[in-house]
Amino acid sequence: MNKTSNQMLIIFGASGDLTARKLIPALFNLYKDDHLPEKFVVLGVSRSDLTDVSFRKKVVTESSYLEEELGKEEKEYVDKFADKIFYEDLGKSYDTDYTNLAHRISDLNTKYGTENNYIYYLSTPPNIYETVAKNLHEQSLTAETNGWKRFIVEKPFGYDLESARELNNALHQYFKENQIYRIDHYLGKETVQNLLVTRFANSIFEPLWNRNYIHHIEITNAESVGVEKRGGYYDKSGALRDMFQNHLLQIVSLVAMEPPIGDEAEEIRNEKVKALKSLRIMKDHKIIHDHTIRGQYLAAEINGEKVKGYREEEGVDPDSTTETYAAIKFFVDNWRWKDVPFYVRTAKRMPTKVTEIVIHFKSTHHQIFTDSAGITNKDNQLIIRIQPDEGILIKFGVKVPGQGFKVERTNLDFYYSSLSDTNLMTAYERLLLDAMQGDATLYARADEVEAAWEFVDPILDYWQNGENVVTYGYSAGVWGPKNADELIDGLYMWRNPGEHLADDPGFCVIK
Ligand code: BG6
Repeated sequence: MNKTSNQMLIIFGASGDLTARKLIPALFNLYKDDHLPEKFVVLGVSRSDLTDVSFRKKVVTESSYLEEELGKEEKEYVDKFADKIFYEDLGKSYDTDYTNLAHRISDLNTKYGTENNYIYYLSTPPNIYETVAKNLHEQSLTAETNGWKRFIVEKPFGYDLESARELNNALHQYFKENQIYRIDHYLGKETVQNLLVTRFANSIFEPLWNRNYIHHIEITNAESVGVEKRGGYYDKSGALRDMFQNHLLQIVSLVAMEPPIGDEAEEIRNEKVKALKSLRIMKDHKIIHDHTIRGQYLAAEINGEKVKGYREEEGVDPDSTTETYAAIKFFVDNWRWKDVPFYVRTAKRMPTKVTEIVIHFKSTHHQIFTDSAGITNKDNQLIIRIQPDEGILIKFGVKVPGQGFKVERTNLDFYYSSLSDTNLMTAYERLLLDAMQGDATLYARADEVEAAWEFVDPILDYWQNGENVVTYGYSAGVWGPKNADELIDGLYMWRNPGEHLADDPGFCVIK
């Protein structure tokens, strides 16, 4: 394992809920498992009137996850961990004089021996990123003349291609690309990383991983929750920006990429960018119209309880046409994937929470057996379950015992949880630890983010400005709009793991 050098983690926007909900529990676990360096300090920075003591109390008490983790005997541990946490109030605005902050950083650095190694973690709205970078630069806190400096930013990275490019250019004035870590928390998921191992460490899969053997690829990201308290943000974003442009295209790039020459960050990222650049951009409105489905959840009753429709959610425009469901069919224009359709969908208020990749293999060229229902056309499937029930499932045919050769499909199922000695790190633990060690493999590079926007931009444009754009309604608790089934060609259907929980309204247009 790489050595983690002594360092300070400076969190901007530290009084927001990400710090207490994700970052502090992740750091605490890293501390418990002895992954933090000997000399390590967290400095929270924001515009709230807090002190070291009140900030510590706030983040520790608000980290319910952290509390849940605690047995009585661990209390002492928490206190020791909390002693590493400090706070600096920036005043009214992020665009202010950072002299006091610079002094505070320097004092803590001297006192706690963090060797001028600083990670800046931006847990602020994206429109603040440039301001913070500029002000840090003015205090000579970005150059790596003495100790390293890393700049971590949360998503969304840009609102479209143009704004993502502008943001990249703005940040590059103050930080070099290798100092910038763009978080995509899906890359921190163990099962997403395992995609590389499944593909490139097993000779049974990679030879089949191409147009000769794969019929199509299906990727589903379903959430059972609605927009919760984030209606204001979500209504301006929608599923395409919120999930597809980042998390799902990251998964696509790992599924579609060519084998890298090694496991170094740049080698892997170069191949991912190549894959993203090979996505066939849909310029023609007719193609976008035919290859995409946009939906929005409607009020429904699930298990006797009324669930709000999207338009009734707090912060959402009552006439909103923002999509909470997006399904897209597309192609990857390269040798490996010619003519293999990719079907990718993401949605809120589905019957269950699941993220999975289904590789549908072509059926045998000549079929001599029928299955037990008398059908011959059954594909083999490799299902990679990202979450929950992390694991891998292979579906294949076996002979039904008895006379004749009837075929039945059966499963070979692997669950990560069966590796009982394996404690899966949470995405934030993995990503923080990697950034602390200077490993950017699981972070998105500037050109990756831009390539993803390049693919998404024409769809966004059509959905916003095109003629005859339709948003379909689906009841909360069903597997999306009815007509999404028509997106998939031929005899195939979406794999919907779980029953509908509400009545399906059938074909329903809300705009
Ligand atoms: C976030 C999105 O990036 O990912 C949310 O903004 C979404 O809308 C969340 O709910 C899903 O993450 P996970 O890890 O629960 O699948």
